[in-house]
Amino acid sequence: MKTLAESQIFNQFLCGDAGDVVRRMPDRMVDTVVTSPPYYRQRDYGSKQQIGQEISPDAYVERMADLFLELKRVVKPTGSAWVVIGDKYDNGELLGMPWRVCLALKDVGWVLRSDCIWHKPNAMPSSTKSRPTVDHEYIFFFSHSKKDYFYDADAVREPHVTFSEHSKMKGGRGHFGKRGGTPENGKNGGDQNLHDGRWDQAFHPKGRNKRTVWSIPLSKFRDAHFAVYPESLVKTCLSASCPTGGVVLDPFSGAGTTAIVAKASGRKFIAIDCVPEYIDIAKKRLAANV
Ligand SMILES: C[S@@+](CC[C@H](N)C(=O)[O-])C[C@H]1O[C@@H](n2cnc3c(N)ncnc32)[C@H](O)[C@@H]1O
Repeated sequence: MKTLAESQIFNQFLCGDAGDVVRRMPDRMVDTVVTSPPYYRQRDYGSKQQIGQEISPDAYVERMADLFLELKRVVKPTGSAWVVIGDKYDNGELLGMPWRVCLALKDVGWVLRSDCIWHKPNAMPSSTKSRPTVDHEYIFFFSHSKKDYFYDADAVREPHVTFSEHSKMKGGRGHFGKRGGTPENGKNGGDQNLHDGRWDQAFHPKGRNKRTVWSIPLSKFRDAHFAVYPESLVKTCLSASCPTGGVVLDPFSGAGTTAIVAKASGRKFIAIDCVPEYIDIAKKRLAANV
């Protein structure tokens, strides 16, 4: 089995089973993995190599774990992985697939750092009357190892809710954007914590630290016969965990959303999919975007 050269994989769409392709990649060349795998028994992609049509949840989870073990080899020790994954009902019973996959990935050595919720404000309505309508998926964030990993918190800060330029709260406005510039009036007057430790969390000029619930509408791209994840979701993952000029790998590239965001934001991509038709869609989409 010949190892692929960087020129054969960087900024390329590679057709084949994700596990087979990743096995041919050199060690430690990827900064982050951003992917949305085929969900268990959600959709038949019509490929003999596809993941998702296994006879049992355990068989599916095992295949995902095998792939992510191999992915650990190609990700740098400072690297990470983001996995976007939804659940599945079987005869009205929720299978709990996201957490089953997540725990299996932990078992093969990935370190779970965050479980985020992707809230979809425009999720499809459902006719169910016996339980709440599902309008979320999970976004699991793993680091390669227990040691330091690349995470640029400043790149993904979000607007303050409690304090802003427009805050009416007495004393609040004076804190905004000025470390130590605290007025002594108002309910927080003279509170040393607000001058120091909690300043970052409450008044950082770039916004508050990223939260774990991400409310992002579904993508409008309809050419593919599967759900395409939103560019802004991928952008957040890349901004946080892939340095500019770094490498992102998507082993289930589909219509190429990860590649599009990587290229637009100055990162290199490696995109794998086992369906030639989707590789073509992704290439056309990327060409149209640049
Ligand atoms: C949920 S879709 C990914 C959608 C993608 N995030 C996007 O925005 O377009 C999952 C993809 O995984 C691919 N796939 C399924 N099994 C695979 C395997 N064993 N190796 C590589 N790709 C696979 C499918 O063909 C499908 O395109």
